[in-house]
Amino acid sequence: MHTVENFRDLQREATNWRRYLHANPELDFQEHNTARFVTEKLASFGINHIETGIAETGIVALIQGERGDGPTIGLRADMDALPIAEASNKPWSSKNPGIMHACGHDGHTAMLLGAAKYLASTRNFKGCVALIFQPAEEPEFPTGGFRMVQEGIMDRFAISQVFGMHNVPGIEVGKFAICDGPIDGSQDDFDIVVKGRGGHASSPHRTIDPVVIAAQIILGLQTLVSRKTDPRESLVISVTKLKAAQAYNVIPDHVEIAGTVRTLASGLRDFAEREILACAQGIARGFGADVEFRYVRSVPVTFNHTEETNLAITAARRLVGSSSVNDKMRPGMGAEDFAYMLEARPGAYILLGNGPTAALHNNEYDFTDEALPYGIGYWVSLVETALAV
Ligand code: NI
Repeated sequence: MHTVENFRDLQREATNWRRYLHANPELDFQEHNTARFVTEKLASFGINHIETGIAETGIVALIQGERGDGPTIGLRADMDALPIAEASNKPWSSKNPGIMHACGHDGHTAMLLGAAKYLASTRNFKGCVALIFQPAEEPEFPTGGFRMVQEGIMDRFAISQVFGMHNVPGIEVGKFAICDGPIDGSQDDFDIVVKGRGGHASSPHRTIDPVVIAAQIILGLQTLVSRKTDPRESLVISVTKLKAAQAYNVIPDHVEIAGTVRTLASGLRDFAEREILACAQGIARGFGADVEFRYVRSVPVTFNHTEETNLAITAARRLVGSSSVNDKMRPGMGAEDFAYMLEARPGAYILLGNGPTAALHNNEYDFTDEALPYGIGYWVSLVETALAV
């Protein structure tokens, strides 16, 4: 059993790593310097099975336990930053203009490195730990997590269970939150092109005005959630883009609508795809127009499996005590690309308090270094729980 005090020395070291990574952020699939940094650290811990270049810049490293044979479990951290100009004014602010670690992936990487150092020196577990450092959690499909799964990491490294962690502002440092089942929503994106007939704005009767039709479609889509979805289910349909003519006196021949769909119930993705098309098409055709429709499935629902969720809860409680682990948190509607790993293998994703900081993806956000020993301690506790002799 560990308390967070066991990880104070590692906290000092991990703080330096974290601040170095924060000052040197890299965008998706370009994490070359970050990957080099991670690889050098892993090698310096005496870890000799390290595979690099998976999904461009991804890394998997193996630590063999010294307490006998057993399964391999995967621990995952993400390494990419965001295209945001930093305004945190910290001494370790981004040196790369327009790029910053605004989601705390610098902290996630530093915590997994800290756990790697500890586990490589103690090896007090059976079986094997696969450290997964993934690129490109943030971008549009195909993301780094998806590509690492596509490139076969689960089979190649015989990973039987997989675990993820993310910091969250607004929860106290030293506290954890998790739930069984869906914990984050899916993300699908759609495009609708309303095809009418353009003309002079002074003679609308000679046109089929796609602007007015698009307006009706946008309102129509709002009724799919309010009138056609079981109110006990979670579904979001947001229209976020609208593009029509560029002039006051032109009725365009087409209008482009785009938006996003989020849900915690996988079955509602089929429903949304079917009903958005039916609604848009029905409205357009009623006015003599038609639509082109594209629906792109991106990140699936992040779904925590029961057995692994219980392991995660036990591991966190052993570190910080029962009252600091909320095991019944309400799921969020954001999307997290760790979901692809949870589709490939059973596992669990847990949230770690980042304290009262700016929100994720805000230009003043910074990962809280005081949270580092909690994240490191969680990974160690998880390994020594899941792979106990
Ligand atoms: Ni993130």
